[in-house]
Amino acid sequence: MECSWKTVLLLVCASLGVQYTAIRTLRDSLSGPCQGTYRCQTRHHRDSRWRALCDDSWMPVESPRKHILLFATTRSGSSFTGQLLNQHPGIFYVFEPLYHVQQAFTNSSSRLRRTLDRRALLGAYRDLLLNLYTCDLHFMENYIRPEPRDHVTSSYFRRSSSHALCSPPVCSEGGDVAASDLPDETWCPKKCGALNLTLASMSCLSREHVAIKTVRVPEVGDLRTLTEDPRLDLKIIHLVRDPRAILASRMMAFSDQFRAWKIWNATGRQPRYVDLTQITSTCKDMAASAETGLQRPAWLRGRYLLVRYEDLAFKPKDKATEIYRFVGLEMEDRVRLWIAKNTNSNGSSPSEWNYRYSTTRDSRATAESWRRRLGFDIVRTVQNLCNDTLALLGYKQVHSAAELRNLSHSLVEHRTFQPVTW
Ligand SMILES: *[C@@H]1O[C@H](CO)[C@@H](O)[C@H](O)[C@H]1NC(C)=O
Ligand SMILES: *[C@@H]1O[C@H](CO)[C@@H](O)[C@H](O)[C@H]1NC(C)=O
Ligand SMILES: *[C@@H]1O[C@H](CO)[C@@H](O)[C@H](O)[C@H]1NC(C)=O
Ligand SMILES: *[C@@H]1O[C@H](CO)[C@@H](O)[C@H](O)[C@H]1NC(C)=O
Ligand SMILES: *[C@@H]1O[C@H](CO)[C@@H](O)[C@H](O)[C@H]1NC(C)=O
Ligand SMILES: *[C@@H]1O[C@H](CO)[C@@H](O)[C@H](O)[C@H]1NC(C)=O
Repeated sequence: MECSWKTVLLLVCASLGVQYTAIRTLRDSLSGPCQGTYRCQTRHHRDSRWRALCDDSWMPVESPRKHILLFATTRSGSSFTGQLLNQHPGIFYVFEPLYHVQQAFTNSSSRLRRTLDRRALLGAYRDLLLNLYTCDLHFMENYIRPEPRDHVTSSYFRRSSSHALCSPPVCSEGGDVAASDLPDETWCPKKCGALNLTLASMSCLSREHVAIKTVRVPEVGDLRTLTEDPRLDLKIIHLVRDPRAILASRMMAFSDQFRAWKIWNATGRQPRYVDLTQITSTCKDMAASAETGLQRPAWLRGRYLLVRYEDLAFKPKDKATEIYRFVGLEMEDRVRLWIAKNTNSNGSSPSEWNYRYSTTRDSRATAESWRRRLGFDIVRTVQNLCNDTLALLGYKQVHSAAELRNLSHSLVEHRTFQPVTW
């Protein structure tokens, strides 16, 4: 597949008298004639600028464009996993665009909110995903508050988490720094100014693939219409994590919301007002999606990969390779380098910036830190609430505090969920 579009690209460019050495530059620039080969399947077909380039003889037999969805839940390691996609130079990576939809809906008047049911919200989520996969970033303007002016916004959620949005042409200041291995978070907000969504759309078009990370879609079944959409070649990476670790991580990250849990953790006594529903529904959704995926329904065939965050944290290189094989792309050097630098896979000492911007420099230790951070009482409660989910995903229960704290005793069963292709 990789070969076939490259061949097409080469032929097209050669026929236009363009040097082979210019291909990469052309691909990355916005005006190159080679753009046309990627766009013919999308709405841009209607655009006269592309139409001339969409001659049938140039068309690849099958669209090589991949639409990747990192489907996860809050604090399940999705930022780390997303970096494996964000670092790929051919991927336009979008970090949780559904945040804006949820905000817009949550902030609407209460009368409207009552009439907005779950179906409407999920429909809005899917609409946005579809529009982003076809590189229409203007569609975000429906949800970004305050409303962008002249297609420019300063309120784009976590813009620095998308490398493409910190690189030329979106951020012309980004040139040299973007190519370095400084994390975008350290300089992008300062250097790049407001985000021009027209430029963002163009940058998306100039990359071969689109990957989106979301933690806001509850179940994989909610994505069915997207997997069946003939315009997309959707690949869903379902990222799961031990719910006990998810809870510990949420308690650290959202201390206000989890105050009762923290009191419980500190005192060893369960407050009456502690809210168990959030972790329960996380477990239910995770299990329901995994069950659906592992039953291999026709609409998900070849489109679903279950990844346990722990496996990725323990063997980042192997798992990343598996993920790339599943989506059908080459793992580029930049991705390999990022893994080497951020996972301590060599046992080398991490550099300073890793320390500040990720919790991942020693991914193995991070994945297990919950075992020192949670009281046994809380762990037992989560085990009772989530016992089916733990069993399904291969996480062992502990029966004593000693067992919980003994890190030589692994709680992750060896599991192979399915062959990469089926
Ligand atoms: C929604 O309301 C909250 C609280 O009033 C505010 O902080 C947030 O910026 C608002 N978000 C949007 C998208 O309007
Ligand atoms: C955004 O970028 C487009 C494309 O380069 C440009 O035409 C437009 O003027 C820019 N908008 C603003 C407000 O700078
Ligand atoms: C890891 O080891 C490889 C090969 O020995 C080396 O090229 C690379 O620079 C090392 N990574 C780090 C972060 O030291
Ligand atoms: C729970 O309490 C222990 C001390 O008993 C503390 O080290 C740990 O950080 C706490 N965990 C969380 C998630 O707050
Ligand atoms: C989980 O707990 C429920 C209720 O206690 C029990 O019926 C069920 O068999 C348990 N599941 C597993 C996999 O142990
Ligand atoms: C910790 O677990 C390992 C492996 O299961 C076991 O061999 C060892 O005895 C345990 N240590 C303690 C102190 O329980």
